[in-house]
Amino acid sequence: MSLMWKSQYKRQFIWLKDTRNYLYRKTGVVHQKKVLEPGCSIALITEELSNKINGTVIGLDIDFEALSNAKNREGKLLLVCGDTYSLPFKKDTFDSVIFQFFLLWLQSPISALKEMRRIVIPQGCITSIAEPDYGGRIDFPHTISYSSYITSKLKEEGADPFVGRKLEYFYTKSSLNNIKWGLACIPFGLELVKKNFEDEWKFVEKLSQKGLDTKLKSIKKDEIKFIKKGERSYFMPVFYCTGNK
Ligand SMILES: C[S@@+](CC[C@H](N)C(=O)[O-])C[C@H]1O[C@@H](n2cnc3c(N)ncnc32)[C@H](O)[C@@H]1O
Repeated sequence: MSLMWKSQYKRQFIWLKDTRNYLYRKTGVVHQKKVLEPGCSIALITEELSNKINGTVIGLDIDFEALSNAKNREGKLLLVCGDTYSLPFKKDTFDSVIFQFFLLWLQSPISALKEMRRIVIPQGCITSIAEPDYGGRIDFPHTISYSSYITSKLKEEGADPFVGRKLEYFYTKSSLNNIKWGLACIPFGLELVKKNFEDEWKFVEKLSQKGLDTKLKSIKKDEIKFIKKGERSYFMPVFYCTGNK
């Protein structure tokens, strides 16, 4: 796992803190005894929940390197290297499954949710904290077309940039009940855009591998121009969803 993704996950973790706290309260996850976070990567949420819960929190990911990285940071974390399509747990094991920015990377989110359903107890809760939908991104000024770049890049990488709007459908197809879904957002207002500028463009440069092409260079130039005038902000929608077995 590259440094680029590690620092991106750290940034996303901070941006989504309020959304997570809202969902922790809404689902009562902090009162539960056994919680699984699949697709945990460097296990930031596993660690956060381990500190909040008087029970067992397990992080699972297919990427051994990401898990080692997390374990080196915090030796007490309980981490399992495994495949979310075939979870190494008996049925009815966990009270809750919770994850963030995970389904967008899966080829078959419905199979993954069905497998999560298998390992939660009856009435156990499956919570998707945040899945993005780049189709709903709103840029000010509207002429900055950054979202079309990131959408095609995510598709190239095998991710679904429009996963957010499909969450209720995925949950329904996975036979989950009591489905509640909604929209949160990462509000990149005038100040946060300024603060975020350097790190975001470092990320884009690494993501695009060959450096910035003409189109990206022109987007960056435009962004600098509008930030200087105090006229740059954007709204990045992320959807949450909860459902019970
Ligand atoms: C965007 S990252 C998730 C980041 C993390 N949830 C967070 O918010 O910091 C997606 C993770 O899903 C993992 N992943 C992808 N396919 C998987 C699978 N079939 N089973 C388990 N993990 C998988 C990847 O290794 C990666 O770490």
